[in-house]
Amino acid sequence: MMSITPPAIGFSSTNFVELAGLSKVYGPPTATIQVLRGLNLTIPQGERVALLGKSGSGKSTLLNLLGGLDVPTSGTIRVGGRDLATMQSNDRADYRLSMVGMIFQAFHLVASRTALENVEMPMTLAGVSKVERRQRAAECLDAVGMSHRLTHFPAQLSGGERQRVAIARALVNRPRLLLADEPTGNLDTATGDEVLRLILEYVHSRGATLLLVTHEEELARQCATRILRMQDGILRE
Ligand SMILES: Nc1ncnc2c1ncn2[C@@H]1O[C@H](COP(=O)(O)OP(=O)(O)O)[C@@H](O)[C@H]1O
Ligand SMILES: [Mg+2]
Repeated sequence: MMSITPPAIGFSSTNFVELAGLSKVYGPPTATIQVLRGLNLTIPQGERVALLGKSGSGKSTLLNLLGGLDVPTSGTIRVGGRDLATMQSNDRADYRLSMVGMIFQAFHLVASRTALENVEMPMTLAGVSKVERRQRAAECLDAVGMSHRLTHFPAQLSGGERQRVAIARALVNRPRLLLADEPTGNLDTATGDEVLRLILEYVHSRGATLLLVTHEEELARQCATRILRMQDGILRE
């Protein structure tokens, strides 16, 4: 029988992601720029959100905060009831491994590792045994149609193949939140469509929450249940 883990204290399915007064200022030593100006937002578990906005408007900044790669200047940022702004660094590392998966425009694979090793990395960090790592990485690569390229290095793969490896890596620890930052931006239309299909397939099958940054209005409408726009450091529906 399936066991159901009780939700963490403070968790509510109606606000899986909660931003309140979220601000981000860069610099000094670089010039001081206020990128995010007090964002408020709630996203229920399982919602598919598309985020549109001009280049430089702060979309990647927001995704990096949600991914636990950066910390806000002020405000709160909660995912699954956990406050990322005040989290200790080891909890943040745990959050990055267990709760969230990130997919980037430029793939960000490790050049010196094979496809299989790249997908194994999040499991290595999470302390999964070598045997299980190998098996799960191979399964995930198979699920994205890459089982014939396990021992290839990123430089030996096409853009679409690299992104499929990056998707396998993002999904291998089964995140409840998937953050995709212009994942089709470096790909031709047909390859981009295939990459999106894989992302949506995962999101549907696991009821995961998606935040997808894209430039394309049309694509946003196809994939998302809700469209947000970043403008002047504020989010608008
Ligand atoms: N690490 C950083 N240090 C200083 N400024 C940054 C940094 N990252 C981003 N910025 C600036 O913040 C603004 C928003 O960047 P970004 O979030 O990447 O926008 P978008 O993804 O919407 O194109 C830009 O003006 C950018 O130059
Ligand atoms: Mg960006």
